[in-house]
Amino acid sequence: MSYPKHLAVIMDGNGRWARKHGLPRTEGHAKGIRVADDLAHWSADRGIRYLTLYTFSTENWKRPEQEVRFLFTMMIDYLQKRLPEMVREGLRMRFIGRRGQLGSELNQFCEYIEDSTSKGSRLDLLIALNYGGRAEIVDAARKIVANTKDPEAIDSETIAAHLYAPDVPDPDLIIRTSGEYRISNFLLWQGAYSELCFTSTLWPEFTEDEFQSILDDYSRRQRRYGSITEDDGPE
Ligand code: IPE
Ligand code: IPE
Ligand code: MG
Repeated sequence: MSYPKHLAVIMDGNGRWARKHGLPRTEGHAKGIRVADDLAHWSADRGIRYLTLYTFSTENWKRPEQEVRFLFTMMIDYLQKRLPEMVREGLRMRFIGRRGQLGSELNQFCEYIEDSTSKGSRLDLLIALNYGGRAEIVDAARKIVANTKDPEAIDSETIAAHLYAPDVPDPDLIIRTSGEYRISNFLLWQGAYSELCFTSTLWPEFTEDEFQSILDDYSRRQRRYGSITEDDGPE
């Protein structure tokens, strides 16, 4: 059974889940963060090494200020509370995204979480916060232009080496919940050959059973990367 080494998830549908239950959107986010925490456990238990969670996009600033503030405050409170356990569980947390726009307080908090969990070796948990795939490529281009005089020397490896977490392998599988069939600016470079899974389940209702069936489906897929395999028939 081959499971993804790196799983990435677009956790969508918190607001619709709340509406369905007659609750404010914030309740959807509160339930959603607990499911994200569960997913980290389900993933580590199955030997997945890297988990990237799309938590806040560069476009999510378009939301009402109150919702944005709630999302950041909730994340800080949650991580603060869970930190000792996360360290015990061997989680290594990192934040990917445009850190500069987050403000110094939030930046310091991110650094504190990263430093405190830096020894974790069971699961690398990457939190995509103020993350946009296009912004990431723009940021990489800026760094490359600042350091390179010879445009001919730039290749795919150069770009990959200047992304936010260059040591992390590309995601093998990207899951999106809530029935939307789009990537919404997530891991545009790294996802070039990722397997995709779209489920109509709203994120707060995502369960371990569904997770397992998605992994089972993934393990039956054949990845070709543009090549052909014996199963594709004779020449
Ligand atoms: C995902 O759920 C969480 C974030 C984008 C922060 P949404 O808040 O987008 O939920 P829907 O899509 O409105 O249901
Ligand atoms: C994608 O969800 C971003 C996150 C899950 C953090 P959105 O709800 O922002 O995506 P769109 O607007 O439906 O494309
Ligand atoms: Mg959404």
